[in-house]
Amino acid sequence: MAIRRVLKMGEPLLREVAAPVTDFGAPLAALVADMDDTMRDLHGAGLAAPQIGVGLRVVIFELRDNPRYPQLAPIPYTVLVNPLLTALGGEQDEGWEGCLSVPGMRGLVPRFRRLRYRGLDADGAPIDRTVEGFHARVVQHEVDHLDGILFPQRVRDLRDFGFEDALVGQMTPMPD
Ligand code: NI
Repeated sequence: MAIRRVLKMGEPLLREVAAPVTDFGAPLAALVADMDDTMRDLHGAGLAAPQIGVGLRVVIFELRDNPRYPQLAPIPYTVLVNPLLTALGGEQDEGWEGCLSVPGMRGLVPRFRRLRYRGLDADGAPIDRTVEGFHARVVQHEVDHLDGILFPQRVRDLRDFGFEDALVGQMTPMPD
């Protein structure tokens, strides 16, 4: 498979609403393989298909032995297709996020603390999980990509948005 170029904020596809997947055959498997290679090459915690130029509702995420986030509980490798999110309880936490499509930048973003997510895996089998904390944050960040939303649009106060190297010591790093 292949490491693909990651689109950057400003490229039109990142602002579009992605289309549902209807075919779970070989092209989807090839897309997911390229997403895996690209996410791991860049040490990301997640990636959405539009970030490599494909306007389909597919996200992947994983947190395991990631040198960027050594203090966080692992998240199992997951391929989530056609996701449906339901916030549980309405409580939100603020956390610092980054994004492979917004390189070098970080921002403080509110996300629902507890989340139920449903969807399908790469073989079309159902996924239904209830999660919280960083896991919930990663899923909300990735699924935003499928609706054309990047994390800077979620930052409440632009004073809490800036360059990673300038923010060292002011933040706890969050998903990429
Ligand atoms: Ni992102």
